[in-house]
Amino acid sequence: MRFASSISAVAALLASAASAAGVVGAAEGFAKGVTGGGNASPVYPKTNAELVSYLGDNQARVIVLTKTFDFTGSEGTASGSGCAPWGTGSACQVAINQNGWCDNYQKSAPKVSVSYDKAGTLGITVKSNKSLIGQGSAGVIKGKGLRLTGGVKNVIIQNIHVTSINPKYVWGGDAITLDGTDMVWIDHVKTSLIGRQHIVLGESASNRVTISNSEIDGSTSWSATCDGHHYWGIYVTGSSDLVTLKGNYIHHTSGRSPKAAGNALIHAVNNYFYANSGHAFEVDAGGSVLAEGNVFQNVKAPVDSTVGGQLFTVSNGGGACSSALGRSCQANAFGSSGAFSRADTGFLKNFGGKNVASADTAANANGYVRDRAGVGKI
Ligand SMILES: *[C@@H]1O[C@H](CO)[C@@H](O)[C@H](O)[C@H]1NC(C)=O
Repeated sequence: MRFASSISAVAALLASAASAAGVVGAAEGFAKGVTGGGNASPVYPKTNAELVSYLGDNQARVIVLTKTFDFTGSEGTASGSGCAPWGTGSACQVAINQNGWCDNYQKSAPKVSVSYDKAGTLGITVKSNKSLIGQGSAGVIKGKGLRLTGGVKNVIIQNIHVTSINPKYVWGGDAITLDGTDMVWIDHVKTSLIGRQHIVLGESASNRVTISNSEIDGSTSWSATCDGHHYWGIYVTGSSDLVTLKGNYIHHTSGRSPKAAGNALIHAVNNYFYANSGHAFEVDAGGSVLAEGNVFQNVKAPVDSTVGGQLFTVSNGGGACSSALGRSCQANAFGSSGAFSRADTGFLKNFGGKNVASADTAANANGYVRDRAGVGKI
C-alpha cells in the first residue's frame, strides 16, 4: 500500500511538472477546443530575436517565457509633430500624427512635439498553432505587443504580461491585436501602460475568441480623460467577432471597456469592473452584448448612454436566455455604480449552436475574480 501510494505521488509530481511547461486548463466559451501549439516540445527563447522567430514561423510551437523580453529602443526613436486633443495638461495623453490623424481629424487641437519608441507601434507577428505561455510570473513582453492577422488560427496566449508600449501616446501601439483570425484564447494575461488599445479586434472577422481570467490594468499617468484612467480598453468591431469575456478584472479605465460594433457578439460573464471614471460598455450599431453575472464597483457608467446596438443586462430577469442558452442568465451586481438596464433580446438567438460559457452568480464572482485574474496566478 505504501509503495503504491508513493508511486502515485511520483506520478502526480511528474504530471504537474509536465503541465508546468504547457497550457493550463482549457478555453471555455466561443474558443472552446483551441489547442495552440498542442503537445509540441516547449522552446525557451533567450533573446528578442528568438522569440520573434518562434512566434512568426510556420511550425506548431509551445513557447515558454522565463524572463522579460524588452523591445524598448530596439527600433529607435521617432520624433515629430503631434496633437493634444484632450489638452496639454501633464495628465493628458497626446496623439501621434499617425496617417495624418491630427491633421485630418483634430484640426483645432493644439500641436505638440512627440518623441516615441518605434518598436511599440507594431506588434510582433504571431502565426497559427502557437501557445505562448509564461513561467510563474516571469513572462513579460515590454515595449511591443502581439499581432495576429491575415487568417491566423488556433493560438493560446496564457500567463504573460504585456506592458509599457508608449503609454504617453495615442497611436503609440496596442498590446494585443486580432484582425482576421479564428480560435484565439487569451487567458491570465495582464496588460498595462499601453498607448492605444489593450486588446483590439479590427475590422476583419476575428471569429471565435475567448478572453478569460485576464487583467486589463488601465492605471496610467497619461490618459485621454486626463484622470489616471486609460480610455482605450477592449475594442471589438470585426465583421464577424464572437467574443467570450469571462472572469476578467478590468480596472482604472474610462472607456471602451469593451466597445462592441461592426458585427460583434460579446458574452461578458463574471467580469469584475472596477474604478472606471467614464463608461464600461460602449455598444454601437452592429454590436450585441449579453452581460451577465458581472460585478460593477465604482463604475461611473456601466454603459455609455448612447446604445446603437443590442444589449441585454438581465435587469428584468434572465428567463429570456433560456431558449438560446438552455439556461437562465445571471443578474449583474453593482456597488457605487451607474445604471445598467437594457432589455434587447432579439440577438440572443445568435448564441444557438455555439459554445457558450457557463455563468456563476455575481455574488460568487465578487469573491474570487480579482484574486484569480492576471499573470502569475496559475
Ligand atoms: C495548424 O495545425 C493544423 C493541425 O495540425 C494544420 O492542419 C494546419 O496546417 C496548421 N496551420 C499552419 C498555418 O501551420
